Amino acid sequence: MISKIYTISLLGIEGFLVEVEVDIQSGLPSFNMVGLPDTVVKESKERVKSAIKNSGYELEPCKIIVNFAPADLKKEGPHLDLAVAVGILSCLKIIEYHKTIDTVFIGELSLNGEIRGVRGVLPMVLEARKKFKKIFIPFENWEEVSFIDDVYIYPVNNLNEVVDLINTNSDPEFLVKQSRKEEDNVYEFDFSEVKGQKFVKRAIEVAVSGGHNVLMIGPPGSGKSMIAQRVPTILPKLSIDEAIEVTKIYSVAGLLKEKGKLITIPPFRSPHHTVSYASFIGGGSNPLPGEVSLAHNGVLFMDELPEFRRDVLESLRQPLEDGQVLISRVKGKVSYPARFMLIASMNPCPCGYYGYPYKQCHCSENQIRNYLNRISGPLLDRLDIHISVEPVGYEELRNNLDEESSSDIRNRVCKARQIQRERFKEDGIFTNSQMKSKHIKKYCKLSKDADRLLESAFKNLNLSSRGYVKIIKVARTIADIEDSDIINEKHIAEAIQYRMLDRKLCR
Ligand SMILES: Nc1ncnc2c1ncn2[C@@H]1O[C@H](COP(=O)(O)OP(=O)(O)O)[C@@H](O)[C@H]1O
Ligand SMILES: [Mg+2]
Repeated sequence: MISKIYTISLLGIEGFLVEVEVDIQSGLPSFNMVGLPDTVVKESKERVKSAIKNSGYELEPCKIIVNFAPADLKKEGPHLDLAVAVGILSCLKIIEYHKTIDTVFIGELSLNGEIRGVRGVLPMVLEARKKFKKIFIPFENWEEVSFIDDVYIYPVNNLNEVVDLINTNSDPEFLVKQSRKEEDNVYEFDFSEVKGQKFVKRAIEVAVSGGHNVLMIGPPGSGKSMIAQRVPTILPKLSIDEAIEVTKIYSVAGLLKEKGKLITIPPFRSPHHTVSYASFIGGGSNPLPGEVSLAHNGVLFMDELPEFRRDVLESLRQPLEDGQVLISRVKGKVSYPARFMLIASMNPCPCGYYGYPYKQCHCSENQIRNYLNRISGPLLDRLDIHISVEPVGYEELRNNLDEESSSDIRNRVCKARQIQRERFKEDGIFTNSQMKSKHIKKYCKLSKDADRLLESAFKNLNLSSRGYVKIIKVARTIADIEDSDIINEKHIAEAIQYRMLDRKLCR
């Protein structure tokens, strides 16, 4: 008899159905797996055999053939074990095969028949429930998917439990559907903790409102990291779809901290500048999502931007352009989502104090130029806003004035985002930062004064055409915050202030 059992594998963060055919014949004892399984799958042979025997089922020497389909997709991971074991036990009539047909099996076996937790159960279950009624998963992963409610999920501890549950057609007792738990919307930080810094806070509000990437330039200790850390607290809360997307990525990466909870807070990632290319962009022999994907729908903070490896900086281009990364591997490519807001920071020069009144800068002009030149033109091109961050004075630090809270700022951001969503609903983009020239032409009407100011800025500041477009986009956002359809002079004037590198350190 041939049994056909179903399981799920992953390509990126999406699951796909895998058919596991098992045939047992008499003949010289052997165990063959076909259908392009990787080495992990081959190792599963030994685990499956031991697990079956150690669970107390008899496995006479025989010829076992296992075929995985579709053959052209690479099936990876130890979570295929359980399906193979169920297939074998069905052929041996230990499991009543007809009771397995509407079921998917996910789980790694240990030698003694226990079922171990695996990575990526959330996206696997989301795929499985499209076609199947029952899904067996490792007990360890139960909470991760406990909010999914239109399918029967059987969290199991060992192979004996699986056999019993199938044969008796029963439900585990504790299988009470849980309502969806959401991570409490509590942030560790708040903008009210940042004293003073009106200019920087305003620039960050504008940036978040229009989805603009930001570069902060300032000496050590001026509060750049402190401010960047608080950016997620003023981003709009994730929608359910966005939350599932983020949770899937963390599930695949094996990084879900609190199982059973959807991640509803925009992520904040802050990789160190020594980060390797593979962990930044994603990769490895069994490619995992990298920092750019872990920051999806949230913030990627790159502290000390010029210190990052050149290949890492270059690799930013694709996610900033397409909102996703393509990772090459032995067979084909896999893509992970990577749409984030980039916040970068740097010192103005190698020693950190160029242009600051209270400390002497020791760098030569050449050193400063080289330092700035490490950020290549194409990367700079994707940073709409660059501002100088100066340390707050003693007076400001010690005053007890109430600073505005993150939730107040977030309310304004949400309003500005709503205006943009309405405006772009036919255009397939969401924020002002994503505008192409046709959108700018259509949606960015400047008043006469605004036009005049921009013209004189262009001539006097020696702006590039790149800077010109950025100023209009950012001014569009500033006008949106005021709910003004027309871009006025003051909107342009403010936007010009957010182009520090066009003015001061022009190259
Ligand atoms: N505006 C501010 N309000 C309150 N504390 C501040 C402010 N700026 C800096 N600090 C304090 O100084 C510390 C160092 O700031 P940090 O963000 O690490 O600076 P940078 O990243 O620019 O080197 C912060 O952790 C914070 O305690
Ligand atoms: Mg810092």
